[in-house]
Amino acid sequence: MKRVSSHVSLASEAEINLDLSRLIIDRPQRFTLERKRSFDEQSWSELSHSHSHRNNDGFDSVLQSPAFPSGGFDSPFSTGTHFGGGGPHPLVNEAWEALRKSVVYFREQPVGTIAAVDHASEEVLNYDQVFVRDFVPSALAFLMNNETDIVKNFLLKTLHLQSSEKMVDRFKLGAGAMPASFKVDRNKNRNTETLVADFGESAIGRVAPVDSGFWWIILLRAYTKYTGDVSLSESPDCQKCMRLILNLCLSEGFDTFPTLLCTDGCSMIDRRMGIYGYPIEIQALFYMALRCALQMLKPEGEGKDFIEKIGQRLHALTYHMRNYFWLDFHQLNNIYRYKTEEYSHTAVNKFNVIPDSIPDWVFDFMPCRGGYFLGNVSPAMMDFRWFALGNCIAIVSSLATPEQSVAIMDLIEEKWDELVGEMPLKICYPALENHEWRIITGCDPKNTRWSYHNGGSWPVLLWLLTAACIKTGRPQMAKRAIELAESRLLKDGWPEYYDGKLGRFVGKQARKFQTWSIAGYLVARMMLEDPSTLMMISMEEDRPMKPTMRRSASWNA
Ligand code: GLC
Repeated sequence: MKRVSSHVSLASEAEINLDLSRLIIDRPQRFTLERKRSFDEQSWSELSHSHSHRNNDGFDSVLQSPAFPSGGFDSPFSTGTHFGGGGPHPLVNEAWEALRKSVVYFREQPVGTIAAVDHASEEVLNYDQVFVRDFVPSALAFLMNNETDIVKNFLLKTLHLQSSEKMVDRFKLGAGAMPASFKVDRNKNRNTETLVADFGESAIGRVAPVDSGFWWIILLRAYTKYTGDVSLSESPDCQKCMRLILNLCLSEGFDTFPTLLCTDGCSMIDRRMGIYGYPIEIQALFYMALRCALQMLKPEGEGKDFIEKIGQRLHALTYHMRNYFWLDFHQLNNIYRYKTEEYSHTAVNKFNVIPDSIPDWVFDFMPCRGGYFLGNVSPAMMDFRWFALGNCIAIVSSLATPEQSVAIMDLIEEKWDELVGEMPLKICYPALENHEWRIITGCDPKNTRWSYHNGGSWPVLLWLLTAACIKTGRPQMAKRAIELAESRLLKDGWPEYYDGKLGRFVGKQARKFQTWSIAGYLVARMMLEDPSTLMMISMEEDRPMKPTMRRSASWNA
C-alpha cells in the first residue's frame, strides 16, 4: 500500500481556498449506483472506473485519492469467508433482529430507535428515549436496507420538536436548538400519544447538545443523497430548520477564532471530561454540517445570506483547523521548542502555549509516521488527547487534507494496541488518572480511568472507523476491526462500551443491547461490503478546481 511521508506540511492559505462555486453546485444527486452486496478485488477496480464520471459526492475522490491504489489492493474480500461470498455473517441477522426490537412507534409510524433495550438494567434513566446522535447509525443502516420511511419520519418529528418551548428553569434556549432525545408519552385514559423532547433541561448536567443539530443536517443530506428525494430537504420546513440551527453557530459575538466555543458535555461525551472550549468532535461536526447545509440550502430568500456566511466561515475554519489543531512528529517538535510571550501578529506560538504543559505521554505516543487533530486548542491550552469521533469525521468530511487523512490512519495503524486493542474503538486516548481525573472530571465515578468516556472502548465508533478506512483505501484495517468486534459483541450482549487499556472488559455500567452498538456494527459491515454507500456521509475534498478548458471556436472548424 502506498505510504505518504509522515510529516504533513501545514496547508498554506492558498491551498485550502475553498472553491465556493463548486461547493454550492454540489447539490444532492440521485444515488444510482448499483447496489452490490459483496464484491471482490476486481469489482473494486471496476467500480472505480465505471463510476469515475460521477462527481462531487466524495466517493470519486475516494477511488481517485492517492491513497487508493489504482491497480487494486490485497482485498479483504478474497480472504474472509463472509466478506464477499459465503452468505451474510451469522451476526448480521442477529443484529437486524435486535435493531428492529429497538424501533419506537408514534401513532403507528416508526420514528426512531430507543437508546438501549436493556431489560436487565435496574436504572433506565433516559436510555428508553430516542437520542438524535444515537439514531444516526440506525438511520444509515435502515437507508442501506432501503427502509427510508423511518428516517424521514425521524427527521420530520425532530424538526417539529425544534419549535417546542425550551426552558431550563427560567432561561429560554435558542430557537435553533435540537433535542438530545425524545420519548413518546402515552396517555392510556385519553388514548393519546405525544412526543416529549429533552433539550438538555432534564439531562444529567443540564447541557444542550450542540451535536444534535449538526447530526440532523448531516442525516438530512444522507437521506437526500441516498434516496434522491430532494423534496424533503427543499421543503420550507427543512430549510427553516437548517437556518435556525445555523443561526445559533454563525451569529457574531466576541470570537477571535472561527471554531465554535462550547461547554463541557455538549456532545457524545455528555459529562464533564475537560472538553469545554473548542472540542475536536464539535469542530469536525460543525465543519461537516456547514458543508452539508451548503449543498442543501436554497439560494432564494433568506438562504442566500446563510450561504454567504457559511462560505466565509468554512474558509476560516478550514485554515484554523488544518493549521492549529494538527499534530505530528514535526509539529510536536516545533511546539516543544516554542518561545513564549510573543507579542504581535508575527508570533509563531499564536496561543502562547507553554512547552512545559506538553504531557509526557505524547512524546512516547507520537510515532514518526502519522498524526492527528488535537482534542482542543485555546489560549495557552492544547489538549493533546486523541479523540476518535473528531478524527474520523475529519476524514469523511474532508476537513483533513488527503495527506492528513493518510497520517491519521497511519497513526491508528501504528498505535493499534492503544487505540483499538481488543475492541474498537477507544473514545479517547489516554485516560485521565489520579489527580487529573479528580480535577478534570470532578471525581466522576462513571468516568474512572479507561472506562466510559474516559478512555473506554465504544463499539458504535466502528462505523466511523470503517468509513474512514474506506475513504483512505484501507479496507483491511476495517476488516480487522470488524472481526474483533464480531468475536465478542453478540456474546457480550451488544454492550454500550468496554473498559480497560485494551478494551477487554464489558463496561462497568455499560447497558446491554445498546442500539448504536448494534447499528454501528451493521453499518460498518454493510459499508465494507458495498463501499459505494460511503457517499451518503462522505464529502469531496475541497481542493481548488482546475481551470476549465474551453475549446476555442476554431476547434471544429
Ligand atoms: C450516554 C452517552 C451518550 C449517548 C446516550 C444514549 O449518555 O454518553 O453519548 O447518546 O448515553 O445512548
